[in-house]
Amino acid sequence: MQILVVHGPNLNLLGSREPEVYGAHTLAQIDADLSQKARDAGAQLESFQSNHEGALVDRIQAAGRDGTRFIIINPAAYTHTSVAIRDALAAVALPFVEVHLSNIHRRESFRHHSYMSELAVGVICGLGPLGYTLALQYALSRRDVL
Ligand code: DQA
Repeated sequence: MQILVVHGPNLNLLGSREPEVYGAHTLAQIDADLSQKARDAGAQLESFQSNHEGALVDRIQAAGRDGTRFIIINPAAYTHTSVAIRDALAAVALPFVEVHLSNIHRRESFRHHSYMSELAVGVICGLGPLGYTLALQYALSRRDVL
């Protein structure tokens, strides 16, 4: 598995969850689009969503052993709280891009800080599902991924 996409809590509700903030696309649509684009480029992509911090940590740890070369992650609310997810990302030492559908810097102040950004290769926020597409495009441009 070359590219892993990790979605944090409540992103399974995309489409119906606060559409004025997060848009109308469902997570299934976003994942299907990313899978197709990865396939077209000859890469393999797997998506994983969980509402549970430990499950996200376990999946990131597994990525350190299963041949994953790159992670695209939207940690959702855990962005602002989870030292555990940050530590898992640091432990596997895989390059990753942090994605947020909304512009977290235009929102409540508690969303302005990310525990992940310092370790990320890059951060994309505010561009809706296009942010995932651009993160994938970046991953596919790396020699160490394809
Ligand atoms: C989010 C922003 C977070 O602040 C929020 O908790 C989410 C989604 C985004 O994609 O805009 O659940 O990560």
